[in-house]
Amino acid sequence: MDFLVKFQQYSDKVEKWLQDNLQFDLNCLERTVYESMKYSLTAGGKRLRPVLSLAVCDMLNLDEEKVLPFACAIELIHTYSLIHDDLPCMDNSDFRRGKPTNHKVFGEAMAVLAGDGLLNLAFEIMLNESIKEENNSLYCARAAKLIADASGTKGMIGGQVIDIEAVGKKITYDELCQMHKKKTGALIKASILMPARLFNVPDEITESLEIYAESLGLAFQIKDDILDVEGNSQIVGKPVGTDEKNDKSTFVTLLGLNKAKALLKESTQRAADSLKNIDNSGFLTEMACWIAERNK
Ligand code: IPE
Ligand code: IPE
Ligand code: MG
Ligand code: MG
Ligand code: MG
Repeated sequence: MDFLVKFQQYSDKVEKWLQDNLQFDLNCLERTVYESMKYSLTAGGKRLRPVLSLAVCDMLNLDEEKVLPFACAIELIHTYSLIHDDLPCMDNSDFRRGKPTNHKVFGEAMAVLAGDGLLNLAFEIMLNESIKEENNSLYCARAAKLIADASGTKGMIGGQVIDIEAVGKKITYDELCQMHKKKTGALIKASILMPARLFNVPDEITESLEIYAESLGLAFQIKDDILDVEGNSQIVGKPVGTDEKNDKSTFVTLLGLNKAKALLKESTQRAADSLKNIDNSGFLTEMACWIAERNK
């Protein structure tokens, strides 16, 4: 099946789960926070992370219904990270997912609270799965722990700290790799490993998934850095040229476009090679190429 058709099928499942399972109370006194959370969540993200989870689930023949809540919890955490990333005290960005950023519409205080709300909701969803009688609580808790580690100070938040503290400085190549691995790679890696953790698949499969996930996560952020220079803001749905303006340390600002492109190619190839023996449909292998070539 065509890669983009399959991608759409997976992301439709994500949209449906979010639609069916998240009921935001728009009549209560604190409704603004729900409007704000809903605004960013439905603004039109690619849903890459939950799509990756569903594709791994398919590849390993696991129960999709059990993976979906955790996959959507990751999308909630990712969306919160974007709301906070765009705040004036962080990257100070006015557009996201083709729309004004959350704080531009709801104000900074509400944007902070909506981000907090999405993060909490993600854990509510995962805990809810863990206490369902029909689920294996221990494996659910392990999957939730994987996601908690990836989004916390050892993962995404840690990476954001390195990013903020690297503004205006010349960091080393090693520091740059660490930053990317944490701020973007960690959550992507968790999306890929979560189904395996949830169903306790054999170690040798998890090992291949780990190599894939690390290479793909790195490729994804290198491409994000390249799109900030070469992308079309109408298509990417966010402003371009912001990294240079904000004096950010990225693969492009530190190494230049050509070197960044060479490293993108290298990590894409590594990702594509890593699943040779298990990716029977070829979707995840094609995903690596799509990430390198994407224009949004
Ligand atoms: C953007 O992520 C932020 C990074 C971690 C690089 P995406 O490019 O996946 O953003 P959406 O979800 O499609 O808006
Ligand atoms: C952000 O990286 C990664 C997050 C953890 C949100 P960027 O700051 O480069 O992401 P964009 O370019 O604003 O989407
Ligand atoms: Mg940022
Ligand atoms: Mg940003
Ligand atoms: Mg960026």
